[in-house]
This record gives sequence, structure tokens and C-alpha cells, in this order.
Amino acid sequence: MSQKNKRKQQKKRSSRTRKPAISLTAATADKHVLYQRSVQDAEITQEFMDEIFASRRSDRALSLREDFCGTALLCAQWVKSHNERTAVGLDLDRDTLNWGMANNISPLGDAAARIQLKCQDVLDAAPGNGFDIVVAFNFSYFVFKQRQVMCQYFKNVHTAMNDGGLFILDLHGGPDAQFRMEEPTDMGEFDYVWDQDQFCPITHNTLCHIHFHFRDGSKMRNAFTYDWRMWTMPELRDILSEAGFSQIDAWFDEDNGNDEYAICKTTENMEAWVAYLAAWK
Ligand SMILES: C[S@@+](CC[C@H](N)C(=O)[O-])C[C@H]1O[C@@H](n2cnc3c(N)ncnc32)[C@H](O)[C@@H]1O
Repeated sequence: MSQKNKRKQQKKRSSRTRKPAISLTAATADKHVLYQRSVQDAEITQEFMDEIFASRRSDRALSLREDFCGTALLCAQWVKSHNERTAVGLDLDRDTLNWGMANNISPLGDAAARIQLKCQDVLDAAPGNGFDIVVAFNFSYFVFKQRQVMCQYFKNVHTAMNDGGLFILDLHGGPDAQFRMEEPTDMGEFDYVWDQDQFCPITHNTLCHIHFHFRDGSKMRNAFTYDWRMWTMPELRDILSEAGFSQIDAWFDEDNGNDEYAICKTTENMEAWVAYLAAWK
């Protein structure tokens, strides 16, 4: 998690320093605003998706399905990035989708018509019209703890995609990801705190939280909680193959934090890493 934050912060630093100081407190802050500022940089992510797509395709990806879309920030960036691009966002949480519609989608004006947000379980997603890219980011699919369920999800994605389509997943690991720890990151007006609360080596079940701590001393504890299984890369690659994906590339940042992702066959281990799997139909 820390590496991902580092690269997002590097890009965001200049814009953040230009903003006037606003005094945020636990009572006044909006947890979705804090999450988006701390964890997401939709522009970097969309550019990286384009880079991965271009690694095996010479055309432009137009249709996106963003699974576990939350506030659908990435859907908004996707349609902003090209006037023929369309996006479908899926999430179980109605309130989060409503927040995303009001704050990320409606402000797009006409482009908002190219986005559909659906309140549903990704496991129940209908095949759809065919997507060029499906993504599941910020480890959200770790919510599926059983192999059989993960395989069902991957098969569902495979069915929903166009031939030659791309499914991108991020994952994190390394020995540091298995220890209890709270890692604060200074976001200027507040600290973003990643809390690895529990990890079981037998099940790989992990319980994590996001907290926000403010300069006035107030705290928003457990703003978000994730009850996940920490899957390993070989496990996921095996399941993706079983679900029908023909080619699975591992994108790894071998400089660890320098945002120099490339397809790797093998690599050295690191204390903590964030990597991506690109699975092709
Ligand atoms: C970690 S957030 C991810 C938000 C965003 N995609 C991102 O990259 O930051 C996880 C989201 O997954 C949603 N979620 C969890 N289980 C789901 C499921 N089975 N189907 C659809 N959405 C689900 C939650 O409601 C939550 O909004």
C-alpha cells in the first residue's frame, strides 16, 4: 500500500501545495473526499491502463467496466480521456454510488451520459455488450475468500469481455504486508493511516482499516474496513488461467516505488510491493 501511495503523492504534490489551507476535522471532513485524495489518482491509473493495453494491442480501448467502482472516479476519468469512451461502474453500496454520481459523474456534463453506474454484486453482472477493459482496483476482489468464488468472478469477467479484451487487477504483498502495523502518510491537512490489523498465515485472511487523523487532533477511525483474503500472485494466475484467460502478464515495479512498471517473468522479493496482473481474453 505504501508504494502505491508514494507514486500517487509524487504526482499530487504540486496541486496540493497550490490549494488554500482548509482546516479539516473529523467532524467536517467527507470520508470519500479523503479516500480519493489519499488512495486514488485516476489520471495516472487511466494512463497506465492505456499503457498496458498498448503492450499487446495497436487500437484504442473504448469500453470500460470498473468493478467495485466505489465513487466511480475512474469511470469519470475514462470518459474524460476520450470522447468515444464509455464506462460501466459496478458496486454494491448504493450510498457510495450516489456520492460518486453527485460529485464525480454529474459535474462531467454531457460526458456523464457515457457512464452507467449499477448497484449490484459483481458476481451477478450480466454479460453486457462486450468490454475492451475490465478492472478491479485497490485489491477489492480480495473480498472473495474462496477459490471457487474467485474463479466464478473471473469467469464472469471473461464472459463480459470482447475477444482480445484486457482484465487488470492490482495486488499487494511482500513480508511487510503480513505484519500488524499502522502506517501514517502525511497528506498535508490530514494523515492517511493504513492499518493492517490482522493477518492469519493459515487462511491468509487479513483485516485492514483506513483511518484519517487531523491536525486539530481529531480522528476518523475505521473510515473504511476491509475483510479480505490476501491472495498470492501464483494463485491468482492459476485461477485466471482456469477461468479462460489466454495470456497473463505480471507488471512489476522493480525499482520499488519509482513507478517504472514493466512486464516481468521473475523478480527479487521486496518488503512490500504493489503489482498488477493483466489478463487477456
Ligand atoms: C476498496 S473499495 C474500491 C473503490 C475503488 N474501486 C478504488 O479503486 O479505490 C471496495 C468497493 O467494493 C465494493 N464491493 C465489495 N464487495 C462487492 C461485490 N461483491 N460486488 C460489488 N461491489 C462490491 C464496496 O462497496 C466498495 O465500494
